[in-house]
Amino acid sequence: PTALAGRHFLKELDFTGEEFRGLVELAAELKAAKHAGAETQYLRGRNIALIFEKTSTRTRCAFEVAAADQGAHTTYLDPSGSQIGHKESVKDTARVLGRMFDAIEYRGHGQGVVEELAAHAGVPVYNGLTDEWHPTQMLADVLTMTEHTDKPLTQVAFAYLGDARYNMGNSYLVTGALLGMDVRIVAPRLLWPDETIIEVARQLAGVSGARLTLTDDVLEGVRGADFIATDVWVSMGEPKEVWDERIALLGPYAVTMDVLRATGNPDVKFLHCLPAFHDLGTAVGLEIHERHGLTELEVTDEVFESGHSVVFDEAENRMHTIKAVLVATLAGASHSIT
Ligand code: CP
Ligand code: NVA
Repeated sequence: PTALAGRHFLKELDFTGEEFRGLVELAAELKAAKHAGAETQYLRGRNIALIFEKTSTRTRCAFEVAAADQGAHTTYLDPSGSQIGHKESVKDTARVLGRMFDAIEYRGHGQGVVEELAAHAGVPVYNGLTDEWHPTQMLADVLTMTEHTDKPLTQVAFAYLGDARYNMGNSYLVTGALLGMDVRIVAPRLLWPDETIIEVARQLAGVSGARLTLTDDVLEGVRGADFIATDVWVSMGEPKEVWDERIALLGPYAVTMDVLRATGNPDVKFLHCLPAFHDLGTAVGLEIHERHGLTELEVTDEVFESGHSVVFDEAENRMHTIKAVLVATLAGASHSIT
């Protein structure tokens, strides 16, 4: 069995740097095998439940395609398609699904829900995004970074601009800290991660040698960066009313060509977990577009469509990395992480 057989995948903090890198390396192997048409199926006959209490394009499709490639079957439960949290407790749901499925993915609100599912399911549980963490996204981002740099991760600098008080900001901070990277969180102080998360990241950095910078100064934060990342300014589950305040607070943190130039690195790459608000005219019925007359928010269309942008590699890598999580936690003795 692999070192991660039977393990949950709930948040980055549950893993050592070595385990996390092992998953990224396994993803790279699985990606190469698929592209060569030489994939081996390690998960034939397995059944995986996918619970989504928030919407998804990438994460759902990544789990479904990864499972199908590996010979496993998935059952998708949408926000209205199950009893979970409505007339049945999370604990009972976990015990029911755990009797039928070999693993359970959960996307929802509080991290406490996915942790409770994991405590009672008796099978591996995977976090497909909570308000607090987006750990499968981090595997994809790290894989994408390794593909677009010749440097070892410990020499890679990345800056995350935007709302850092939510899943993506939290996850970037602790993932960079875990892997010994040069991490810059560039945001207005009001939107920095919670103090307890900063403290955990500092402790991890003490072990890994990571350099952590939290700053509200864009120029200082991006100087010398190899990668610039951002995310939407208002996340799923947040009230619509916060848009006005976020636009005012985060306007100066939008990723523009000037921001990329300020890195001083002509090869700087741009990351975004997606969906991205770079061309609101094409998004459907967005009230914010009509009210503010803005067509670009966290990133300009120019940056998004430029040669710096590696967002579609990143999106593809959601599938290969989620496949690595499935194989590492579910495959039998026939496979090991090398
Ligand atoms: N990046 C990401 O998690 O995308 P979805 O919300 O489409 O799954
Ligand atoms: N912060 C975003 C990420 C989407 C993948 C959200 O939670 O909506």
